[in-house]
Amino acid sequence: MKLKIAVGISLIIFWTFIVVIVTLALSRNNQNQVSSVSVNNLKSNELIKLTSEEIAKHDNSNSSWLIIEGKVYDVTQSLSSHPGGANGILPYCGRDGTQAFTTKNKTRPQNHSDTAKSLLVKEILGSLNETINPSKILNVVNNSQTQRQFEDYEDD
Ligand code: HEM
Repeated sequence: MKLKIAVGISLIIFWTFIVVIVTLALSRNNQNQVSSVSVNNLKSNELIKLTSEEIAKHDNSNSSWLIIEGKVYDVTQSLSSHPGGANGILPYCGRDGTQAFTTKNKTRPQNHSDTAKSLLVKEILGSLNETINPSKILNVVNNSQTQRQFEDYEDD
């Protein structure tokens, strides 16, 4: 009888432990998602239209979007490793940076290299006025690959 009670109590303790661990793991996962979304001040369940008004909200180092030749890019992750400095790109975030990108902000056209363009392609959100799923933004925000590629590029 005593043995049955002991086994019963052990089982209750074991399952309580499992439930606590699973609950903690789930709530932690949830917190991560919320903080990623808040980086962009976006609600995770809403589709987003890439209008000029929406892009204008992302004009800072926490969320840096810009338009280049009709396409919208999220350069938040690569800003700090930009060879021309974060301050080279930041003034053009939240708006159309086509001219700045194609001139490197000089008076004469001075194009970015093909390598720069291939890095940029990885950060595309969509075309101007396209409606996109917010998961696309989270992918770019969580993608540290571009930053690593910038670093590799500097090592060459
Ligand atoms: C839109 C505003 C931007 C301006 C004004 C700008 C300006 C510059 C400047 C002044 C340099 C350093 C000088 C040089 O190496 O020739 C540079 C280099 C570079 N930038 Fe930008 N940049 C902009 C956006 C971007 C973006 C969005 C990317 C990619 C995501 C990028 C990628 C690079 C790379 C890889 C280099 C190294 C040189 C090259 O490959 O052309 N830049 N940029």
